[in-house]
Amino acid sequence: MGTTDSAIDLAVIGGTGVYRLAALQDVESHELETGYGRPSGPVRVGALHGRRVAFLARHGEGHSVPPHLINYRANLAALQTLGARRVLALNTVGGIGERFGPRVLACPDQLIDYTWGRVSTLCEGEPWASSGGEVLHVDFGEPYTRTLRTAVIEAARDAGVALVDGGCYGATQGPRLETRAEIVRMRRDGCDLVGMTGMPEAGLARELGLDYACLAIVANWAAGAGPDPDEVITLQDVLDNVAVASAGLPALLAALLEH
Ligand code: HPA
Repeated sequence: MGTTDSAIDLAVIGGTGVYRLAALQDVESHELETGYGRPSGPVRVGALHGRRVAFLARHGEGHSVPPHLINYRANLAALQTLGARRVLALNTVGGIGERFGPRVLACPDQLIDYTWGRVSTLCEGEPWASSGGEVLHVDFGEPYTRTLRTAVIEAARDAGVALVDGGCYGATQGPRLETRAEIVRMRRDGCDLVGMTGMPEAGLARELGLDYACLAIVANWAAGAGPDPDEVITLQDVLDNVAVASAGLPALLAALLEH
């Protein structure tokens, strides 16, 4: 496992449609092998507004890793190994609640996990087994780190970027999108947003002791949730809306890094 002791002020994990941080300067690339295996791709570390920032594309830079096969443990461990203590996760999502239409940015405060069959804890396999096998029961009542969420919300306000404060993220298995009945059920459960990558990432971040917050980018109405219940969701619409919604990200990140 490669190590470095130069601290990273913020790590950013990019989701669908966000594969790099264009403004990152003096970039070093780190191809790491962690105790959990290989991350989705190289971690790019560089300078942004006078801070050290790490960036990792969750699905790989060519979007080659589907949500259920992402090595979430290796991704987070690689960022931590490089010195990150705070992770801002960008997640492309569908909107369920009426305040969460396409192109909205949101910072959810709750989540429900509908994923299955993913390696969702550090307490499985190596290096856990040979390091004594302590069983972790981390508190997860508030799944996102309050201080980091608050900083994101204040940064958006300072930067004049519209951001919905709060909401419940429902994490589904994918890679297929949901049925309309599944979205009706998720709405009944209290979900405002639906995405495929919010878990186990948030839970693993808590197990690793990392501060973690989600910045959700709404790409589409979830199945049947929008004004046209027969709308078909296309990847092109998703990418187009992410590109538009991401326009405020550089200013938001700049303000966040000033905090
Ligand atoms: N469902 C799940 N994940 C998503 C969606 C969706 O509608 N849009 C973007 N990611």
